[in-house]
Amino acid sequence: MLSTWLACLGTLQGGVHPLSTLDLRAITQGWGQPQVNKSVDGRPIKIGTKSFATGLGSHASMVWRLKLDGKAVRFTSWVGVDAEVGTRGSVVFQVFCNGKLALETRTLEGGEEPLFIDVPLKGVKELLLVVKDGGDDINYDHADWAEATIETTGATPVSVMPPVEKAEILTPKPKPSPRLNNPTIYGARPGNPFLFRIPCQGLRPISFKVEGLPEGITLDANEGILRGTTPTKRGTYSLNFIATNAKGKARKSMKLVVGDTLALTPPMGWNSWNAHYDKVTDAYMRKAADAMVSSGLADAGFAYVNVDDCWMTKKGDARLRDENGRILTNSRFPDMKAMADYIHRHGLKAGLYTSPGPWTCAGYTGAWQHEAIDAQTFAEWGFDFLKYDWCSYEGVATLEGRPRFEKPYIQMGDLLKKQKRDILLNMCQYGMDKVWEWGGSVGGHTWRTTGDIPPNNFWPVAAHNMTLTEFAKPGQWNDPDYLVLGWYAVGDGGTGVRATHGPSEQYSYVTLWSLMAAPFFYSGDMTRLDDFTKGLLTNPEVIEVNQDELGKQARVVRQLSDAWILAKPLANGDVAIGVVNPGEFDSKITFTKAELGLKGDWTSRDVWRMKDRGPLADKTTLTLRRKSSVFWRLRKSN
Ligand code: GLA
Repeated sequence: MLSTWLACLGTLQGGVHPLSTLDLRAITQGWGQPQVNKSVDGRPIKIGTKSFATGLGSHASMVWRLKLDGKAVRFTSWVGVDAEVGTRGSVVFQVFCNGKLALETRTLEGGEEPLFIDVPLKGVKELLLVVKDGGDDINYDHADWAEATIETTGATPVSVMPPVEKAEILTPKPKPSPRLNNPTIYGARPGNPFLFRIPCQGLRPISFKVEGLPEGITLDANEGILRGTTPTKRGTYSLNFIATNAKGKARKSMKLVVGDTLALTPPMGWNSWNAHYDKVTDAYMRKAADAMVSSGLADAGFAYVNVDDCWMTKKGDARLRDENGRILTNSRFPDMKAMADYIHRHGLKAGLYTSPGPWTCAGYTGAWQHEAIDAQTFAEWGFDFLKYDWCSYEGVATLEGRPRFEKPYIQMGDLLKKQKRDILLNMCQYGMDKVWEWGGSVGGHTWRTTGDIPPNNFWPVAAHNMTLTEFAKPGQWNDPDYLVLGWYAVGDGGTGVRATHGPSEQYSYVTLWSLMAAPFFYSGDMTRLDDFTKGLLTNPEVIEVNQDELGKQARVVRQLSDAWILAKPLANGDVAIGVVNPGEFDSKITFTKAELGLKGDWTSRDVWRMKDRGPLADKTTLTLRRKSSVFWRLRKSN
């Protein structure tokens, strides 16, 4: 009734329109749903000490487009972080009029008093309201537009749904002839079990041959899987892979570096978290392994199949560990060793998760005071990757300063090195105490640089991670969290949620992860990979840039609100560049060869379309739609 009445009122000419009476479905935000006259968590709106009866409760990152008729007079609002988060959270409010920034607040912190904003709207046809995170991440960024109104002498403002784009598949279909997609370098520790599935696209059956295979490793010639024991003698072994099918033959070499360094290129795989959360089961894990092979992800280079939190016993269970202190699993995981064996039979690698604290983030049993037996158990089960998530360790940490953060990772890093298996350590502690400065020295192969990636807003995570160029190197990678694309949040028979980034945005997401040499982990439903998502994940040239042997993260050439330019030097002297428009409007971006550090003549290749573009001009101007990007590989002309 009330809404009908308000809608009728809205069609009248002129008036003062509370924002909360407009159609809020067009709002996109990084967490939760927009609330009418309430905070995003559903409490009465309060900023600092001031309470408000009306307004809109939202969350960074928020974007809302409104159409006006040029007759609006002003937009006014109190803005700030809702008091429900205490002193946490920090946001920036922005108002754009006709595509131009009309107002930007300073960073407003949790606990601060509200700020009053007043933006004249004369002649404005398009109004855009934005809330950005305050430069950290979006956790606790509960943003209120309190008593927000648009005063107009004309028509009621109209809420505009975000622009819809056609999902164009840029990645060409794999050719029937074989294409080997292995990295050109691979690290393994001497004398440990060896398992490697040779990634190769093309029509099966493919018959594989390997030249230079060291003793102790055998090849399954039909599947292209190498199994056995890594040589005990340290050094570099040159392997030549040859793949033949009815349509042709491919060759590609790989240096097997036997030594102490693993993850010489960023690890690639799948993680259960954003796909299944606490509904994950053994059956989902096996299906993910099957799908990694049948969908073609394994042929592109994906290798790890990792269960995240929630495989073990949990708070309140009668028994958490057996009489020897060994961790017990819950009923959804009847046999962890059998599960790892199943994954290994595909030639893939298996990963799992725990916390150095007594409990994991989801309240399951952590490794605290059982670290040694847990590391040993994981190795005995056959796991190849451990995500070690700080969480409740916060409550038991004793030291101060950096040693406080280092301690549990030093301990687990050392324990993993003692196992007779190659086990990667993924440090998950959200970037605390600049983990990128010391994560490698405590045994981490990858470290999360931020809090959890909001499923539909990777931009703030990328904006931060991209600045950490100097800390990434072979064996040690900045981890900006997963590629949450396609369908996610499935489990328990649920249907899941479709990622809502537009297609251009999804290309930008993967482009950035490739250029940032980020661990390349998909976290979505492996059994429901549509062709568009598969195209995003399996483009061999995109993966080649990510997996490049030089192991450099792209340097930031430019980082502005409407233009990011990244450049990643590659082992063969090529340079991969990404030109990205992270903004909400079309952006005209000009760059020069000189600022990319290029001398002489260069040609460019469109990485996504896998197509040469011809010579690179001294100066290039691109008009990029909102959130879109280009990804080129530049090569010096002879
Ligand atoms: C934390 C991590 C996530 C996920 C969950 C599991 O939030 O950052 O990646 O592992 O815990 O509970």
